[in-house]
Amino acid sequence: MLGEARVAWAERAMPVLGLLRREFGASRPFAGRTIAACLHITAETAVLVGVLTEGGGEVHLAASNPLSTQDDIAAMLAGQPGVFVYAKAGVDRDTYYAHLNRALDSVPDLVIDDGCDLVHTLHSQRQELLASVAGGCESTATGVARLRLMAASGTLAFPVLAADGSVTRRMFDNGHGTGQSVIDGLLRATNLLLAGKTVVVAGYGSCGASIADRAAGLGAAVIVTEVDPVRALDALMRGYRVLPMAAAAPLGEVFITATGSRDVIGAQHFWLMRDGAVLANAGHFDVEIDVRGLAAASVKVNHGVRPHSDEYVLASGTRLVLLAEGRVVNLIAAEGNPAAVMDLSFAAQALALAWLAGGADLPAGVHPIPATIDVSVAAHALAAQGVGIDALTAAQREYLASWRQGS
Ligand code: ADE
Repeated sequence: MLGEARVAWAERAMPVLGLLRREFGASRPFAGRTIAACLHITAETAVLVGVLTEGGGEVHLAASNPLSTQDDIAAMLAGQPGVFVYAKAGVDRDTYYAHLNRALDSVPDLVIDDGCDLVHTLHSQRQELLASVAGGCESTATGVARLRLMAASGTLAFPVLAADGSVTRRMFDNGHGTGQSVIDGLLRATNLLLAGKTVVVAGYGSCGASIADRAAGLGAAVIVTEVDPVRALDALMRGYRVLPMAAAAPLGEVFITATGSRDVIGAQHFWLMRDGAVLANAGHFDVEIDVRGLAAASVKVNHGVRPHSDEYVLASGTRLVLLAEGRVVNLIAAEGNPAAVMDLSFAAQALALAWLAGGADLPAGVHPIPATIDVSVAAHALAAQGVGIDALTAAQREYLASWRQGS
């Protein structure tokens, strides 16, 4: 389908960005500003880019994953005034980084990142550009974790607003979007019936919890693996079986990683698994399943047994089906999180960038997106759906503001 039609369809589910587009068209917060962006190139990202350019920005866009680029969207965006696109699906690692560098050649005033590769490249290879960057915004938990480490080591040279910490991102994007899109990718790639299957979800953060719930909703028996006792206990109390991966490996028929860590499924697990087990990753980087270890343990690989599905045959004869080369299954085998949730997180990021462009005056480091932004995004989303809510009365406001009133 043509990029234009897909973006028009996404726009229908993105009323908050629609509103910002109109507001920014009038207030022009990015007039004269150059924005380097590293994002999954999807219809939803195209809507965000339209808001930034309507606000006067010049956007230089590279992909945040070598496989997730939707080429029809990239082509459509490349034809838009004020937009420069450096991305193509299926590029190798060198080309991926060459594209990031081309986005940085724009000498950005602001950056928007998804996974921290752009900001990392800026600090490790393009330090001459740092002084002119007013700040940035990061979408993912993985990116925020990298940024915090950069900040702790004194490396991060400008303020970055962490979209991942925002309530809208955790609750809606991760909590509803990722669960649905990961299952969507799994089903598009395999056409499996999940009812009655044993699905192992590694990681019970906001993404893992939402994947577990969606899989359970489709009738799967869900096992959760975790390293954090609090999250493991939460999964247990929500009715999931909790096991170490070594114990889950022989039981699972589908494995989905969502941890942000590496080698969560590794060589010690593959040989324990059942014939036909499906392995998918939902985390930002392709390190959660040890794909090299899987290749080393295999005597044969049957590529493309289904879309985005490669079958690895172990010496024992066990066949393991790896989806999307171990990269973000929801963005490669499906289209990423639905527009209705990307509307909220991208609106929060657009507002955060406008705040930075307007001189937010923050020190270098990682900062939360202000709660007022979350509240205003949620209020706009409710209003767009015609949903009204109660307002506090004067007496309630007074009561809530006082510590003197007890029993
Ligand atoms: N990350 C997750 N889903 C996405 C989408 N639809 N567009 C851009 N980035 C995403």
